[in-house]
Amino acid sequence: MDKMVVEQVSYSYISKYQTILALREVNCSFESGRFYAITGESGSGKSTLLSLLAGLDLPKEGKIYLNGEDLSKMDRDIYRRDIAAVVYQAFHLFPLLNALENVMYPLELKGMPKARAAARAKKCIGQVGLPEKIHGQFPKMMSGGEQQRVAIARAMAAGGKLLFADEPTGNLDTENEENVVAILERLAHEEGYMVVVVTHNPGIAARADVEYRMRDGQIVEEQKRGGGQ
Ligand SMILES: Nc1ncnc2c1ncn2[C@@H]1O[C@H](COP(=O)(O)OP(=O)(O)O)[C@@H](O)[C@H]1O
Ligand SMILES: [Mg+2]
Repeated sequence: MDKMVVEQVSYSYISKYQTILALREVNCSFESGRFYAITGESGSGKSTLLSLLAGLDLPKEGKIYLNGEDLSKMDRDIYRRDIAAVVYQAFHLFPLLNALENVMYPLELKGMPKARAAARAKKCIGQVGLPEKIHGQFPKMMSGGEQQRVAIARAMAAGGKLLFADEPTGNLDTENEENVVAILERLAHEEGYMVVVVTHNPGIAARADVEYRMRDGQIVEEQKRGGGQ
């Protein structure tokens, strides 16, 4: 059971000409087994918050804790490799690797022997509902929905139970969107993942156990819908 706590977190983008305050004293928390949505208008700070949760950058002020441990004091490489995983709107699969190789990649990075990595990757690809014939296909031969499911399988294979997704269905049609949301929901409710999704889509937000709505770098509304473990 993991718990993340965001405490008084502020973040600014500083350039020579201006400082943009992207997050202003944000407080929120996240638990395993639940599906979270972060919503709000474009520019409200959603992606910035997600990138801090995923350990891609550190707050300028305030703290993020995982199970009571300050994220800024943890080994960030280990956090990003073994604990947290990120899924993007644009899938970000490796174009020169086939589906199976894409999912095996994080495992091989960790030094897992090839045969074990392949077995685990195949299992994850099955868990996102893709058929075996996808294994040998390259990203450009797959639909958007297939690519996003491979990206989720890759995130699962890495082994972390914290899954952060930034507009994961932004490039998908309605049917594939439904597929991907159902997978993310299942990962939270049945596999015990902490799933945090940034989304513009009110239909997805309505299915979240907790919705954090942002405006101007702050969380202006928290909506709990129950569900989860
Ligand atoms: N790399 C960056 N450099 C400068 N400003 C940025 C950068 N990324 C985001 N911003 C600014 O920070 C604010 C929050 O952005 P972001 O977190 O991407 O919002 P959202 O994901 O809700 O659209 C916006 O004003 C945006 O223009
Ligand atoms: Mg964004």
